[in-house]
Amino acid sequence: MQLPDAPQLPPELGAVSADFLETEGPDLLARWGRHQEFWDQRLAAGLDPYFRTTTTRLGPEAEAIDRAEERFSGVNFSSQDYLSLSNHPLVCAAAVSAVTHWGVHSAGSIVLQGGSLPLRALEDRLADLFCGREATVFPTGWAAGYGAIRCLVREDDHIVLDILSHACLQEAAANATRHIHRVPNCSHEAVRRRLQTIRAAHPRAGILVVTEGLFSMDSTVPQLRSMQEVCRTFGATLMVDVAHDFGALGDGGMGFVGDQGMLGEIDVVMGSFSKTFASNGGFVLSRVPGLKQALRVFAGPLTFSNALSPVQAATVLAALDIVRSPEGAQRRRRLMANVLRLREGLTARAFSVRGQPSAIVPVELGSLAEARRMTRAALRLGALVNLVEHPAVSRSTARWRLQVMADHEPAQIDRMVEIAVAAREQVAEEHLLPLA
Ligand SMILES: Cc1ncc(COP(=O)(O)O)c(C=O)c1O
Repeated sequence: MQLPDAPQLPPELGAVSADFLETEGPDLLARWGRHQEFWDQRLAAGLDPYFRTTTTRLGPEAEAIDRAEERFSGVNFSSQDYLSLSNHPLVCAAAVSAVTHWGVHSAGSIVLQGGSLPLRALEDRLADLFCGREATVFPTGWAAGYGAIRCLVREDDHIVLDILSHACLQEAAANATRHIHRVPNCSHEAVRRRLQTIRAAHPRAGILVVTEGLFSMDSTVPQLRSMQEVCRTFGATLMVDVAHDFGALGDGGMGFVGDQGMLGEIDVVMGSFSKTFASNGGFVLSRVPGLKQALRVFAGPLTFSNALSPVQAATVLAALDIVRSPEGAQRRRRLMANVLRLREGLTARAFSVRGQPSAIVPVELGSLAEARRMTRAALRLGALVNLVEHPAVSRSTARWRLQVMADHEPAQIDRMVEIAVAAREQVAEEHLLPLA
C-alpha cells in the first residue's frame, strides 16, 4: 500500500496541518498516516505550541505543559477570560451552589426535559438585556452559530459572509447552500453591492448577511447600523456574532451592538459565554418566537445535544450580574487600560499590532517560520502566548493573538512586551545559524 505524500519537513519551512487535507488515496485512514509524524517533528523541534495543558489555576500568571511535558510558566496571554471572572468568588460560589442544588448534569436535550430553571432564567435574562428579544441558549457558541445558520438558510437561499467570519459560521454556510458570497472584512459597501446583484437576479430568495461585532483574529469592528440598513433596503436578514465584545466592551457590557445604538435593532444576534462569562455555552436572539421554537427542533447541535448544564447556566448568570454591575464597569476600564498599555508598548518596540483596541491584541510576526520560532522563544522566556497560523489566518499572516484580562497588572503587561522583544532578538540571531 502506498502512503500518501506528506508535506515536506522540517516544519519550520512552512507545512501546516491543513496540508494533510489534500492527501489522496482511497484508504481514508492512510491519508492521515504521516500526520502524527508531522506533529511529532514539530514537537521535537520545539515548534508545536499547541495542545498545551494548563497545570495551575487560570489567571494572569499560569503554568502549562506541552505534549512532551515541557513546562512553561509566566505571564498568561493565552486565556479567554477577559474580565477575569473565572476565579471570581461570586461566580465560583454560584457554581458550587448550583452543583449542590441541581447536581452536575442536564441529562437531556432541551426538547426532552434537559432544560433547567437556571437555563430558563438565563434565556429570560438575555432576552431582557437585548430588549425583549427571544433568546435560545445552546451548549456552545459554536453550536449557536452553526445551528442558527442551518436553521435559517435553505439551499436556494444566499449567504453574504464576511471573509473573516468564525469557523462555525463558515461551516454552517457551506452546509446550508451553494450560494455563498464572501465579502471583504467589515465592508458594508461591499455588502450593499453584493445584495444589489443578488436581489436583482433572485427576487424571492432569502438572503442572510453574516458579520461579527468584533472580529476574533483581526480585532476589527463593522458599522452595524449601516449593515442593518443595507439589509433592510434589500430585504436581507442580518446576523451578528457578538462572542468577543458582549460583556467585555461597551456601556453595561453590551458590546458594539450597544455602543452603536443598535440594541433591539439587529435581526439576529448570537454569542458565546466562553470569553467573558466564565463558562461554555452560546445563544441566539431574534424578535420571532417561532424562530426560537424552530431552533429548538431544527438546529441539530441544540436539538440533538444535551442542554447546557444547570451549573454552567448558573455560572453565566452570576458572571452576568457582575458584568452589569459597577464592578463590571470598573473591570472593563481595567481591561481597556491594559489593552492600551500592551498595544502602545508593542508598537513602541516596532511590532505591528492589528485592529482596534479590544481584549484581542493581534501581533504580526512575519513569516510562518519566524512566527513559530518566536513562539518557542516566548514560551521559554516566560510568556504564555497563542500562535495563530494557517488555516485560521492566511499563510502569510501568522501572528500571536494575545488575550488580555482585567486582572493583568501593568508589570505583567510590560513583561509581555519585554519578552516579545527578547524573542524577536533570539530569532534574529538564530537566523544567522544554519537550519538544524
Ligand atoms: C467569533 C466566535 N464565534 C463563536 C465562537 C464559538 O464559541 P464557543 O467557544 O462558545 O464554542 C468563537 C470561539 O472561538 C468565536 O471566536
